[in-house]
Amino acid sequence: MTDFKELIANELYDESLGLEIDEIKGMIEIPADESMGDFAFPCFRLAKALRKAPQQIAADIAASAGGNKAFAKVENVNAYVNFFIDRAYFESEVINEVRTKGASYGKSEVGAGKKVIVEYSSPNIAKPFHIGHIRSTVIGNALYKLYDACGYDTFRINYLGDYGTQFGKMIVAYRKWGSEDELKEEPIKALLGYYTRFHKEAENDPSLEDQARETFAKLEAGSPEETELWKKFRELSLAEFNRVYGMLGIEFDSYNGESFYSDKMPRFIQELKDKKLLVESQGAQIVDLEEYDLGAAMITKSDGSSLYVTRDIAAAVYRKENYNFYKCIYVVASQQNLHFKQWKKVLELMGYAWEEDCVHVPFGLVSLSDGDDIKTMSTREGQVVFLEDVLNTAVSKTADIMREKNVQGVNVDEVSKEVGIGAVIFQELSNNRIKDYVFSWDKVLNFDGETGPYVQYTHARASSVLRNADEADLAAIAEGNINASYLASDSAYALCKLIYRLPEIVIEAADKYEPSMVTRHLVDIAQAFNKFYHDEHILVDDEEERRAKLSLVAVSKTVIANCLALLGISAPERM
Ligand code: ARG
Repeated sequence: MTDFKELIANELYDESLGLEIDEIKGMIEIPADESMGDFAFPCFRLAKALRKAPQQIAADIAASAGGNKAFAKVENVNAYVNFFIDRAYFESEVINEVRTKGASYGKSEVGAGKKVIVEYSSPNIAKPFHIGHIRSTVIGNALYKLYDACGYDTFRINYLGDYGTQFGKMIVAYRKWGSEDELKEEPIKALLGYYTRFHKEAENDPSLEDQARETFAKLEAGSPEETELWKKFRELSLAEFNRVYGMLGIEFDSYNGESFYSDKMPRFIQELKDKKLLVESQGAQIVDLEEYDLGAAMITKSDGSSLYVTRDIAAAVYRKENYNFYKCIYVVASQQNLHFKQWKKVLELMGYAWEEDCVHVPFGLVSLSDGDDIKTMSTREGQVVFLEDVLNTAVSKTADIMREKNVQGVNVDEVSKEVGIGAVIFQELSNNRIKDYVFSWDKVLNFDGETGPYVQYTHARASSVLRNADEADLAAIAEGNINASYLASDSAYALCKLIYRLPEIVIEAADKYEPSMVTRHLVDIAQAFNKFYHDEHILVDDEEERRAKLSLVAVSKTVIANCLALLGISAPERM
């Protein structure tokens, strides 16, 4: 497809300007006000080289450009040269591009040959997989897909929280009060129950804490019985998590969590010592980061056991050595900002210059609005809402809505899963990730708002138009036999312009770690499609006109499905 900015840059290029083509291209803007054209070139920077007023330069350029059939009009307003692209020319370029690229439209190769690790979800085993985890899980998955779409060689890691002294407590409690059956039945709830009970009983019986410490020490030393139990807890937890990942359509390439690094830490503790970075503080070993305003990073406790940051150091070096990443992205809540700052600083002080390629991508909190009828469960930390319950509720509420609407010819059981879960994912990716947000069913499942169901419905609408078209028309548009001069309306043109911008939005969203840029663009496309659909009669008698319009419908359907796929959401044909 024609790169219109490049086309314009070539048109403008002249040695006397003292600018390279790429520089010119970078200066081209897309005016917010359409009456200012489709692209605009500001001439301020040229004033010096040309020794003329910017306005005069713009006027001169406008007068001489314009021979190209791609431009309908070139004119200047003050110091800007405004380019109006010929609509039919532009539209047939866009439609052809999407038609030939199909599912890969929106993708690029900007990241070819570069390895990007995306670490996300990373729940703690034996703990509930709750609504709070949805953010890292869904944002991380979308980032993975965006990087993948940009041609990077991606690798997904679920850094499970499967290590720490709490496992000593859990094993002690399980042996005292637990049962195999209970554990198999509902592992997380059972394990959480043991853990809670441990804390209650330990208030009156401090010897429990000692037992837990001893048990953890055995586990660390690799004692078979303790390891066996820990493995069982891990496997059962993972099976529960995988059920949720399955519902969300999410997979990982590695589940190497904290425990994987337990035997890899001595090397770094030694290295920190050798580099004179460790100091003792009340028996613990710390890296003093006061001078950077980052407090102290605790590397080992007074009993010698390692800490969260220590494991993250080992994990980062392991990943660098084994995957040689170009970038390693950590999708973790902003509550852990300090942890990640400390960790990066320690890596830097250790001399690992590549720490700059490790990126913490933080996000805000999700909370529930009052009156949301989601099951909650009390734990030591408070009320817990299981993510699985949220997803199931979304599906059943969607099924209710669909039955109420009495939609015909649709397998409600199937489609309500795609729509309900899609709605939750979409909501998650709608806002700027750093913002806190309040989860509300009314917002999530509103079929008319800027929601997943709305976009999916738009996709189904486009599918339905195409189902009603006749074979000969479909065959013609598949060949690209269309006359775009029938797409002269503002609504058709606006839709094409949004479609045209998708590849650049995908690259920018990946660069900024901001999937919501794609979500918002997708809403714009869906709205533009619906405007086109309402403004225009599509299945008109005139064959050429009908085919031109149908091809824009087909292209829109492809693009909406592609965007949904980038977000990890399916695109039902009917709903
Ligand atoms: N398991 C941690 C938690 O649930 C998140 C892990 C984040 N990743 C990391 N490399 N520290 O809080």
